Formats: sequence, C-alpha cells, structure tokens
Amino acid sequence: MDVYCGDLSAELVGKEITLNGWCRYIRDHGGKLFVDLADITGIAQVVFDGPLLEQSKTLGREYVIRIKGLVKERDKETIDEENPTGKFEVIAKELIIINKAETPPFEITEEKGKFLAAEDLRLKYRYLDLRRKEMINNIIFRDKITKLARQFFWKEGFLELETPMLVKDTYETGARPFIVPSRIKKGAFYSLPQSPQIYKQLIMVAGLDKYFQVARAFRDEDQREDRQPEFTQIDLEVSFKDENYIMSLIESLIEKILKSIMDEDVKLPLKRLQYYEAINRYGSDKPDLRYDYEIIDITDTMKKSNYNTVKRVLESNGKVKAISFSADFGKSERITKDFMLDVIEIAKANGLKGLTWLFIENGKLKSIPEAIASSLLNIENELISALKAKNGDIIIFAADLDDTLLLQALGKIRKVIGDKIGKFNIKFSFLWVVDFPLFEVDSITKKLKPSHNPFTAPFTEDIKLLEKEPEKVRGRQFDLVLNGNEIGGGAVRINNADLQLKILKMIGMKEEEALDAFGFLINALKFGAPEDIGFAIGLDRFVTILKEKQSIRDFILFPKTKSFDSPIDGSPTKIEDKRILEDYKLKRIE
Ligand code: AMO
Repeated sequence: MDVYCGDLSAELVGKEITLNGWCRYIRDHGGKLFVDLADITGIAQVVFDGPLLEQSKTLGREYVIRIKGLVKERDKETIDEENPTGKFEVIAKELIIINKAETPPFEITEEKGKFLAAEDLRLKYRYLDLRRKEMINNIIFRDKITKLARQFFWKEGFLELETPMLVKDTYETGARPFIVPSRIKKGAFYSLPQSPQIYKQLIMVAGLDKYFQVARAFRDEDQREDRQPEFTQIDLEVSFKDENYIMSLIESLIEKILKSIMDEDVKLPLKRLQYYEAINRYGSDKPDLRYDYEIIDITDTMKKSNYNTVKRVLESNGKVKAISFSADFGKSERITKDFMLDVIEIAKANGLKGLTWLFIENGKLKSIPEAIASSLLNIENELISALKAKNGDIIIFAADLDDTLLLQALGKIRKVIGDKIGKFNIKFSFLWVVDFPLFEVDSITKKLKPSHNPFTAPFTEDIKLLEKEPEKVRGRQFDLVLNGNEIGGGAVRINNADLQLKILKMIGMKEEEALDAFGFLINALKFGAPEDIGFAIGLDRFVTILKEKQSIRDFILFPKTKSFDSPIDGSPTKIEDKRILEDYKLKRIE
C-alpha cells in the first residue's frame, strides 16, 4: 500500500507499506541507520538494519528512495513529540534508490531559527527551498484559497473564462507594459496584459453576465515588497449589478475563506470609509485600522503656545496635526528614544521639515530635550485632552503649509509606529474605502490622471463637474483594505462611448490617440453595453497578509527578485539563437 510519509498512524501499525520520499536527515548508529524520509505531507522515520544496512549506508542527503517496510510503534523513550508521525517508525524490508542527489547548497531543515539561507540562493534553488515545510504550507494555503474562490464563484453562477495574454497595450494602470515582438508583422508588438480589464468589459458586452478568472497580470513598475512584475488576481465582472452587490459578494467570500480555512470570524458588513475621511483621519487611502491612533488637528491649540518651531508655518496659515500613541514609553523596549529619532528621519524622507515628539509622565508632557515640553506648558492640559493622551503615551506632531503632504507623511508615520507598538485591537482588519476622486493630479506634469483606471464611471450627479471642477468628481471606485494593505480594487465601468472618449481626452489623450488605443472598447460600447461593475483581489498579497508574513515572494512558486530577475532560470537573458535574432531583426548587444 502506498502511503505518504505524513500519514503514518495507529491504523497502519503492523501493516506493510510503501513510502516514496527524500532522505532529509540520516543518523548512522552503527548497527542501525535511521532516515527521516520527507515528502509533501511530512516526515516518517525509516529504520534500516539487518540485510539492508549496508545498502542504506550509501544513502546521502536528499537521495530519492522508495522503501517497503513494516509500520511499528516506537519505544516510549524514542517518541518524537514535535513530529506528528513521531510515535511510529517503519522498519525497512526493501530499498530502491530512485536517484542520488548532490549535497544541497543549503540545509533543508524544518528546525525553527536554523534556516539561514540567503533569499538569492533560495530562489536559485527554489525546488529545494520548496521542499521545506514552511514553503509547502504557504503553497498549500494559497491553493486552498484559490480552490475555495473557484467553488464560490461557480456556485454563484459565474463562468470561469480566459482572456488573452497577447494583447494591445492599454496603458491601464500607469505601469509600463511588458512587450512581445511580433515575428510576422515586423516592427509590431503585443503587450502582456496589465489586467484582464478591457476584455472582461467586452465579455459583459457579449452578454456573458458573470465572469471570473484566476488571472495573471503583468506590470513593469517600481518594485516594492508587496509587488511582483507578474502576479495573480482573482478577477470578476458582472452586469446589471451595483456596488452593494459586489461588496456583499466579496464579503461573503472573505467570510468563507476565514471561517473554513483559518477558523477565524469576521464581522460583516465590513466598515466603509469615504476616501476623504480616510485621508483626514488616518493620512492614507488604505489605513490600518487594527489600531485607532487618529490624526487630530491641533492648529488652534498650537497658536497659543510658545513653540517657535511651528510659528512660521502657523503665520502663513499652515496646519499642525498630531497623533497620540499608547506606547508605554519608558517601559516598552520597542518604542525608545532611538526609534523616535529614526521616525524623525522617516518624517523628513516624506517631505516634512521635522517632527516633534513628546511623551506623558505623571500626567505631564515630557520631552528630550526638556525645552520643547517647557514651551508647550501653557497648552499642556488642552493638548493632552484634545489627544485623549494618558501616561506612557507618545505624542507626535508636525506642521506644514501643504495639508495633503502633512496628512500623507503622518499617515506613513502612524503605520510605522503603530506596527512597531504592535498592540492590535483585532487580527484582521478589513475595510472598504469608497468614493475615490475620479482623477488625481500628477505631481510632476500637473495633468489629470485616473485614480483607478480610465474606465471607472463618475457618480452621475458629479458628471456636471467634469468640465469646470474635475478634481471634485467622485469615481464609483472601491478598494478593499486589509491591515493597511490594498488587497483589491473595483469599480462601476463607463458603459457609454461618448463619456468614455471624453474621460480619455480629459487625461490628456488626443481624440486620435484615444481611438487608436481604445477604439475597440469605445466601439463595443456602441453595440449595447450593459451596466457593468467588477473587482479584482490581488491573490499573492491577500494570502501573504492572511498568513501575517512580509514577503509575497514566499507565496509564489518562482518569483522575481526586486530587480525583476528570475534567479531560477537566469532570465531575462540575451538572445543567442541566430534564428530568433534574424526573425526579429535584432542586433546582439554585448
Ligand atoms: P488593481 O490595479 O487595483 O485593479 O489591481 C487589483 C489588485 O491587485 C493587486 N496588485 C498587485 N499584486 C502584486 N503585485 C503587483 N504589482 C500588483 N499590482 C496590483 C493589489 C490590487 O488591489 N482591473 C482592475 C480591477 C477592477 O477594477 O476590476 C485592477 O487591476 O492587491
């Protein structure tokens, strides 16, 4: 009987079984040799003695073997409580060496704290890295979520449909596309899709009214810890529905994932925050609401103080904003003076001139140096009560003429300090952020750009503002946020050809350019486009955060590095093949 290593159990005692696996740890005790045999399910101890002993001594780490043997309970003193199969062992009767293995470049170990291989090496030998239990668990976890999502959408009547991978560049997200040259049409290029966005809209025009796909998306954009140039979305689109339908559909998917895969409860409906409320209260359009720490405007109070540092900003009508953190200052090892000095540097890196920090001791404001607290003495009580601060709390504040910059910088600092304090009210804080402005103003070109993508419908009542006050127009866009990360985004789409063209022109495209790039969509909208709304969850990001891990690379089989390299195959590489060079009229660059 073929059995997985992790499936050794009391029912198998006395039975003869076959195991296939990799020799993870080998211990030679002279008359007996023990092998911890590993496969995707776990580790089983195999004992070689008697006639097999000699052959077993030729085994090395990560050799692939098949054994037949008898399952036995271990003696009490040799039970391994750490291993779920640790009460049993298999006495080998037959050994087949399927393949030898070279000594791995790093030890494949399950012992916590012992695994120290650098990520570059792990990615180069990813197939070895993936043999580790932690990685196996990550990949299985991802599979469970994908499977549940598929079953969920099928049950709701969605069709799983595939959209093309070789497409026209659609400038959808502001990222650069990855391009693929055409061999047949010289000088022409396909693009890899930044998302299935336009195609799923066309699917709605076709009348296939509920679409989903576990879709790959490709974006050549600045790298961050939570981004990959190719990643996966759980992507969907429906006709004749509105925001409330999509939000409650996604909520019920989340509830099912959390309950059945993680045994966690989530309180529904999820909280919704309007974009401007999120920015004003938390300095972010994806606030982490595992903690409170709201931004409070203390401009009026500060006007009464003798604190010179903010005076000039106040005289020029700037604002002063503050946050109070329950930090246990003086007791907690996390929030120290040195950490706060680092925070000041973060503030400067985010455009602030500086940041003032204080703490509360015996109901009084304290600072290092003391002069800061002294200059705030006359507003001490007012400040403490405005911020509802208690003993041990840290107060930070900053002043600036640019309100947006001030809020954004404080939002980033709120997250840095909040995460560091680590006192969370809740493990998973899901949140909808709604009513985004339809446009953002590009900080460099000062031109309008879409805040989601150029296909988002404006609120009907805001259409009249498009000409004169476009920055006031709200888009019917909604983002899903989890613990301060954007894990999904969606919108009602424009389903009117004229309005679509107008929006494209507003973001700086000439009519010919817009028609050249998006004519196929605009045309489709003229042939009976239904009401259309959709959403996409960033799967890699979602699973990483649910597992409370930092790097999405740990949930992707063969990820790219921060510089977009693929260590497993060394790509991107130069093209050496003469035929390809000839086909594409490429010159070999040395
Ligand atoms: P959006 O661009 O917001 O929306 O993408 C949806 C979600 O995908 C995730 N994501 C990423 N994950 C890893 N690496 C990346 N480089 C990356 N970029 C985005 C995020 C994000 O919330 N077509 C629209 C969706 C729609 O409106 O239906 C879209 O792609 O978690």
